[in-house]
Amino acid sequence: MPYSVGLQSAADAFLSAGIATQFTFGVVIFLVIVLVTSSLQADEADAPASLPCYSLSAILPFFTRRYDFLNWGFQATGQSIFQFQLLRNQVIVVSGESAREAFFTAKGLDLTEGFKILSGAIPMVRGVTSNLQPRRIAMIHKRLAAVQRNAPLNDLIPLILEDSRRIMSTWGTSGKFDPFENIYALLFQTTLRSLSCSEISDDPVIVDRLKTLYDTLDNGTTPATVLVPWLPTPAMIKKLWATKEIYGIVTNAIRAREESGVSHNDTLQMLLDGGDEKLVVVGFIMGLLIAGARATGTTASWLITFLGCHQEWRAKAVAEVESLLAIHASSSDKDSLSARLSTIRLEVWESETPVLDAIIKETTRVAQPHTAMRRNLGPPVYIDGKIVPTGAYVVYPFSDVHMDARLYPDPWAFNPAREEVKHTPFAYVGWGGGKTQCLGTRLAKVELKLIAAMFVLGFRHSTIDGTGNSTKPTPNWNDILLCRPPPEETGYISYERSDIPL
Ligand code: HEM
Repeated sequence: MPYSVGLQSAADAFLSAGIATQFTFGVVIFLVIVLVTSSLQADEADAPASLPCYSLSAILPFFTRRYDFLNWGFQATGQSIFQFQLLRNQVIVVSGESAREAFFTAKGLDLTEGFKILSGAIPMVRGVTSNLQPRRIAMIHKRLAAVQRNAPLNDLIPLILEDSRRIMSTWGTSGKFDPFENIYALLFQTTLRSLSCSEISDDPVIVDRLKTLYDTLDNGTTPATVLVPWLPTPAMIKKLWATKEIYGIVTNAIRAREESGVSHNDTLQMLLDGGDEKLVVVGFIMGLLIAGARATGTTASWLITFLGCHQEWRAKAVAEVESLLAIHASSSDKDSLSARLSTIRLEVWESETPVLDAIIKETTRVAQPHTAMRRNLGPPVYIDGKIVPTGAYVVYPFSDVHMDARLYPDPWAFNPAREEVKHTPFAYVGWGGGKTQCLGTRLAKVELKLIAAMFVLGFRHSTIDGTGNSTKPTPNWNDILLCRPPPEETGYISYERSDIPL
């Protein structure tokens, strides 16, 4: 056999070589052995603890009951950092103060790549919303910043209020609704208005269709569509179909605008006037809508729910908006609420609403079930002494900090009067932290404030259960989209129009 012949002749050659050669060879071999074993030992010691089971079914709850799954992982390993395999992907889950700081500040950890594999909600159109060149992503982010400059954001205020008036008027004088339907749909409309164009946002049929399509994308995210996206499962085909239809709606609107030759004052016009490539324009609208509409919709649904069960905070919000109207609104009492609110300028909404600010902050702390996801695109990094190799995924559940009873006593309780936690870095990450900050914060906060103002003054409301009794639903962090409790615990909004015309 060639191997034994080779080994034999090598051994012969070694034995017949001089003592110096034999010694040098021996030292080299010794060093290699030391190096290999020490690197193996380092790997062992540096690697995060693994979950005690490897089967795919054991990690499926990462998709279906994420909050429980991650808590179980910390308990089962007894560690603050652990890892598991998602098919061929290594996923490292981190927690604790110093890990959080490292997670939000480490250079090589990339949000876009992390989100792509682990979330799967973004409609994937190669080159438009996925596999985007960093140059195009940077351009989309630049345009998003432009939408939120003072002048365009100020111009959006009356449009958002008019959308709210129109939709709230359809709710009638009294009744009850599911906030995760009605408030969510309202925020979808206002976010679409802010990020797209009048051709789309003026047409209720298209808006409704788009909402259904985006729901298909979100709800159709199954473990299979994330892990094996090339597999033509029914869910994947539905998602592809929805993506194709969204793409068609957006490109049709762009074509209609270009062909009309008429200029409008909206985001699409700004993108077209900026001379952006079509890919950037479509990617902006398709990609940001999913990031923006879902988060604002969930936050607003919870905000109205919380105000419905904490009447003292509702009263404070009412008093704040009334005082804004008294001091800053330039129209008369006879005008509609939306008309009066629209005369209050952006800087007032941004700097003179401490109550609404506290309510929004507390809502994003207690009812935003986010797990931040990154992929390490740089060299290996250490988090709390554990290695995150190049290519590995790292995730950080916001529950680790936002539900930490040492920082937020009685953490599940909605209490906007909490003191700001200053002694711990990144104690509140509701709008991101460190290297990754939410790029739609300004727009989202203005939307939330305008809608809250319209609702608390235009209606009286309370949160009730299915039998009509008042209730305080607890956010369900296992629902990664809406943070919504199971149906039997979900609250409804019982409402009655106030005397103020919308
Ligand atoms: C209540 C509404 C919103 C909340 C609570 C929210 C929260 C967040 C958070 C926590 C992050 C960081 C995620 C992470 O670290 O993994 C983030 C990132 C981001 N958000 Fe928001 N967001 C909201 C609305 C919006 C809107 C309306 C837009 C767009 C118009 C938007 C665009 C983005 C983008 C582009 C990023 C990624 C930034 C990056 O790549 O570094 N968000 N958001």
